[in-house]
Amino acid sequence: MRVHVADHPLITHKLTVLRDVKTPSPVFRSLVEELMTLLAYEGTRGVRVEPVDIVTPVAPTTGVRIADPKPLIVPILRAGLGMLEGMVKLVPTAEVGFLGMARNEETLEPTTYAERLPDDLSDRQCFVLDPMLATGGSLIAAIEFLLKRGATDVTAICILAAPEGLAAVEAAMEGRGEVTIVLGAVDERLNELGYIVPGLGDAGDRLYGTV
Ligand code: URA
Repeated sequence: MRVHVADHPLITHKLTVLRDVKTPSPVFRSLVEELMTLLAYEGTRGVRVEPVDIVTPVAPTTGVRIADPKPLIVPILRAGLGMLEGMVKLVPTAEVGFLGMARNEETLEPTTYAERLPDDLSDRQCFVLDPMLATGGSLIAAIEFLLKRGATDVTAICILAAPEGLAAVEAAMEGRGEVTIVLGAVDERLNELGYIVPGLGDAGDRLYGTV
């Protein structure tokens, strides 16, 4: 598994405002979108392209376009939805599928409660969006779901990660194909409630309120 921390002063600046408890929800939402566009730029370095012949006003030339099958963006509900627009802005021809993951309160295992994805993902490049890589449980389940459907190339884009969650994803993904994690920052640790420290709190609540 490849891990890329997008270390850029603009990302750190926006992350700092995002973390601030005083940042109100509308500002938080636009910042998540902006950060996502910057992280998507890093995360799509390996996007598949194919040659295309075009004619400029001056001369014929050859360029590239995003290859078929188009990349598939998969936001994890609920908080991953806040990242979707920022990614779609950068890759408007991508397709979008949805995955809802929740923790089963009896088994404590992540379960899939909603899914809208193509049945066959062979040969698709998939981009999973989940802002907070905390324990890693739901991200592992989401990536495994895509690998079982045939995906061989999965990039997860997260705003923040805890070292514990990152290690769990790395252990689970060993030898499992082409998996890349792109992050805005790796924080100090997880606390006993499963929050990333210092983190930014509950990303879903800060995006959408506490419903
Ligand atoms: N999910 C969040 O929204 N925040 C955390 O800190 C951990 C998981």
